[in-house]
Amino acid sequence: MSTAYSLRRRLLFWLLVSTAVIGTLALFDTYREAVQTANIVSDRVLAGSALAIAERVVVAEDGALEVDIPYVALEMLTSAAQDRVFYRVDGPPGQFITGYQALPVIGQVSGGTASFADSLFRGEPIRVATLERSASTGIRSVPFVVTVAETTIARRQLARAILFRSALRLVFMIAGAALIVWIAVTYSLRPLYRLGDAIAERSPDDLHPIEQSVPSEVQPLVDTVNSFMVRLESALDALRNFTGNASHQLRTPLAIIRTQLALSARASTLDEAQATALKGDQAVAHAERILAQLLLMAKIDAAVSNEALATDRIDLTALAQDITGEHIPAAAEAGIDLGFEGDGPAHIRAEPLLIGELLRNLIGNALAYAGRGAEVTVRIAGDAAATRLEVEDNGPGIPEKKLAAVRQRFSRGSDGGAPGAGLGLPIVEEIAALFDASLALGPGTLGKGLKATVTFRGPA
Ligand SMILES: Nc1ncnc2c1ncn2[C@@H]1O[C@H](COP(=O)(O)OP(=O)(O)OP(=O)(O)O)[C@@H](O)[C@H]1O
Ligand SMILES: [Mg+2]
Repeated sequence: MSTAYSLRRRLLFWLLVSTAVIGTLALFDTYREAVQTANIVSDRVLAGSALAIAERVVVAEDGALEVDIPYVALEMLTSAAQDRVFYRVDGPPGQFITGYQALPVIGQVSGGTASFADSLFRGEPIRVATLERSASTGIRSVPFVVTVAETTIARRQLARAILFRSALRLVFMIAGAALIVWIAVTYSLRPLYRLGDAIAERSPDDLHPIEQSVPSEVQPLVDTVNSFMVRLESALDALRNFTGNASHQLRTPLAIIRTQLALSARASTLDEAQATALKGDQAVAHAERILAQLLLMAKIDAAVSNEALATDRIDLTALAQDITGEHIPAAAEAGIDLGFEGDGPAHIRAEPLLIGELLRNLIGNALAYAGRGAEVTVRIAGDAAATRLEVEDNGPGIPEKKLAAVRQRFSRGSDGGAPGAGLGLPIVEEIAALFDASLALGPGTLGKGLKATVTFRGPA
């Protein structure tokens, strides 16, 4: 048996894995966007302060640049968080004017608008805005560069806060989805539990179809179980029928034996006693034969349910010849001319003991019912497509309307002269079926008697 697993757990597992993967991807995206937004907003403020400083740069009378730092412009930055702000103003290339001289300057700046870059200052990450302008005296204009930098604590905090909130939302979403799946699965499985209960409540011999309403996905399973139960029911019926018939069949010879024993106990002469003993002995032989047939039947049934039936490549001609030979004394006693036809080996794949039983039943029937003076022929014939085993007699045969009936278990012909249980032909048919062969019954070659043909597909 394969190990059981929980549908609920499996669904939950896949839900969690997929939402975790998708959620993590979404989280990365959110974080990237948060950092971008925080940068855009803070960059604008940084550019504003650079512009405010640039506006305070003037050319002094001696031609040098002077700047009066507007601390308010820097304060609008520092008020935001615990971030610190640095600045520097440089004149024409190489001339440091004021501010933090160690502050890194961005080499490449685009004229007019501020340029931004990430850098490090005193071991801390900073964001740098650089603005290039020029101050004019009316006669000449002097270029200068304003650099304003800010530590990035506030923007990193903002991005982290956004990330945290998104992650929290994701966790709640996953937990919610898991809860919903748990409830939905429990609810959806309820019809299955009800189905289980309905089956458990049944009595063992109640094999009626299950009528519980189940989800459409489970309906095929229920249909399969139902059709299985129909087959089980008919198999059980057949079994009950068989055991009933079998015990009935045995009861008759047993009753005869008792009667004969009682008669022989009361016999006054030895002849009388011997006659009853003989009748009793015949009844025992009959019972023995029925038992053998029943056991054979059980063996065939077991072989049908057990797939691996051992088969050999056997020579049907040799086997049939042997078994025909076995019957010569009985044929002589019954006044019947028993013959064999067949030349050359004919190979089939089968189990020799069972094929022997098949043939014994057909020859036995011919000897029992063909009548004194009849001819019985056992024949092996065949071509590339099939190998045929025929047992033909020229006795009274079986009327056409009874041909179907005699194939049933325990069904006998009208004659009843010879003792039998009506199991011979069913046994023949079932053994044939085991080896993929078929049984045909019909009149003999001259329209007289019975010809039983067992056709094995293809030479082996
Ligand atoms: N060769 C035959 N000629 C005429 N009738 C036959 C012949 N073979 C079978 N039958 C008829 O078919 C019936 C069924 O045969 P089947 O072999 O199944 O059972 P049985 O011979 O009656 O009993 P069992 O074989 O179990 O001892 C027989 O009772 C007989 O009436
Ligand atoms: Mg028979």
